[in-house]
Amino acid sequence: MKKHYLPAPTGHAFTRRKLILLGIGASLLPSGLAAADTCRGLMQATPRQTAGPFYPNWSQADRDVDLTRVAGRSESASGELIQVSGRVLTPDNKPVEGVLIEIWQANAQGRYAHEADSNPAPIDQNFQGWGQMTTDANGAYQFKTIIPGPYPVSRSWSRPPHIHFTLQKPGFSTLTTQMYFAGHPLNDVDALLLQHGAEERDQLIVAFDDRGVPNGSRPVRSGVFNIVLDA
Ligand SMILES: [Fe+2]
Repeated sequence: MKKHYLPAPTGHAFTRRKLILLGIGASLLPSGLAAADTCRGLMQATPRQTAGPFYPNWSQADRDVDLTRVAGRSESASGELIQVSGRVLTPDNKPVEGVLIEIWQANAQGRYAHEADSNPAPIDQNFQGWGQMTTDANGAYQFKTIIPGPYPVSRSWSRPPHIHFTLQKPGFSTLTTQMYFAGHPLNDVDALLLQHGAEERDQLIVAFDDRGVPNGSRPVRSGVFNIVLDA
């Protein structure tokens, strides 16, 4: 199995146990920093979150923005189809072009196609576990994917559905974070989300439209996740 060609973001090598410890032990960001930014009329940088234990460590020929289809396979991924789009911006609201965005996530059953994932849920061979793209001149990006399933970390903790993101561009500090789905009940009890105050949690939780754009029998729901990068 080939190594992923991208360098893993900081903190990728977490085991489930370390993830649990992080959830219990991490501290909040200093609140004064956010307040200072607000006073200067700047947007708060998107909060950082761990890459978790399942950063892609395998290569794949198909690494495009449509994670619902794998090149050479006729079936598409199971699950609820979504389009995640947004813009990457500086704190003073300028678009950032040329940011390499990488996303990775569990399939609809809550299983990563990663050798370290011990979840017995089945791997979906029609789901492209990660994808990447580079932002355009407007800082815009978009991916088509499915809503990932929740998955167990321990007997008492299941992670809410989430999509992992890393953003890399020379001159900016690499951002690793996670995007969540508004209204999911596990959001309210997730140890990683609760590391952040309500305002920061809101930056990571995206509301998707209810009905979606018709697409045969499988409508595609859309959500916007704008991301603010620190220099
Ligand atoms: Fe995860």
